[in-house]
Amino acid sequence: MTVGAEMEQLLEGAKRVLHGNDLGGWTKPAPNLYPHQWNWDSCFIAIGLSHLDTARAVTEIHSLLRGQWANGMVPQIVFNPAGQGYFPGPDVWQSTRSPDAPHDVMTSGISQPPVLAIACRAIFENAPPEHRDEAQRFLEWVYPRVMAYHRWLYRERNPDGNGLVVVLHPWEGGLDNSPVYLDAGSRVHLTYKPVYHREDTAHVSAQYRPTNKDYDLYVYLLEQMRADDWDQSRYLAHAPLQVQDILFNAILCRADSDLAAIAEIIGENPSEAQRMGEETRAAINSQLWDADRGMYLSRDRVADRLLTDATIEGFMALYGNVAPEDRVRILVDVHLTNPRQFWPAFPVPTTALDSPSFNPQNYWLGPVWVNTNWMIIRGLVDTGRTDRAAQLTADTLELVRRSGYREYYNPYDGAGYGTDNFSWTAALTVDLVTAVNASG
Ligand code: SER
Repeated sequence: MTVGAEMEQLLEGAKRVLHGNDLGGWTKPAPNLYPHQWNWDSCFIAIGLSHLDTARAVTEIHSLLRGQWANGMVPQIVFNPAGQGYFPGPDVWQSTRSPDAPHDVMTSGISQPPVLAIACRAIFENAPPEHRDEAQRFLEWVYPRVMAYHRWLYRERNPDGNGLVVVLHPWEGGLDNSPVYLDAGSRVHLTYKPVYHREDTAHVSAQYRPTNKDYDLYVYLLEQMRADDWDQSRYLAHAPLQVQDILFNAILCRADSDLAAIAEIIGENPSEAQRMGEETRAAINSQLWDADRGMYLSRDRVADRLLTDATIEGFMALYGNVAPEDRVRILVDVHLTNPRQFWPAFPVPTTALDSPSFNPQNYWLGPVWVNTNWMIIRGLVDTGRTDRAAQLTADTLELVRRSGYREYYNPYDGAGYGTDNFSWTAALTVDLVTAVNASG
């Protein structure tokens, strides 16, 4: 098959997945495992949709923002009243205990990596000329909402006042059982064993999912936050898990830049968003760079130390345009492209191959995910490593071609795991294929 025909086939398959998971104005991440609307999933989905249908991409974000809280938080999940088979559901989260939560939709009580501004800008940039005006009107509508979200992060999740945003739950960091969260989580003393029933392992075999011990922590932390009625400052005063997460903060830097760009497009003053980004970039470089290891690491704010396991998180500094050139060189040449660490047959494993926590089949303990690869590809392009970016693009699309639109993949042989028909894999395939086709 020619490259063109292969790309066409990948694109058609991706459209089928997105269509199959489309529930009207929004897209569920997967047919059964994730039956509600997730925050960063919908943002990646909107990026894919922006190449196919501007109006539908806009609707994805409108739907997500139905869940925005009065304090500005954009929650991790907006619940679908008809969604079945997911734990923890709205009855567990009880978001309306907070006066800030919306009352017409139920949501979770935490956020997720802030891809929102990035998705909104992409919708505008990718709009064909005949939809530019519509995209511009969307930016005018969305800008104050995204600004409110960023202000919430800098106001309520910036306990040291230095622009390093703190993550309070592994689900908020997005990489639930990454060694980063296993390490920080190991220091949380559970004063009781929570009682609950998992639903995820009815959809995906337990060997590919977080452990019951991990879930005990997730539910315990949820119950701790809920006991404070989702009041951020009340909870932060005693929160047993606080991670100044490099992935979250690096994405925030990029999102701040995109928010500033949106401000300029619609004739607003970009300086507040620019200042936010500069603050976070400076704090990442001064607080989260481990010079001995030559890596950016997340920081456990409770234990006051860096979380030392080598994971994919540190490469998000490339995506956030955070790292000066000497550090980019170390990140890419010493770690990323090292076949013993992050560059096996199918890069990029989410945990380093030589980490004691590495597992090629289990969720965030090692498998390749398309969203993290996609962000690294963008970072490689921005830092001038276009050959590497092209190689990683080809390797990522090869995973999808071989194993389908899976949730994650084995970095050694490309086998697919987790749910099938995973929306962000499909959406970002659309974006990658579009880039390949545009390059020639
Ligand atoms: N990733 C979480 C889950 O598996 C939710 O964000 O349920």
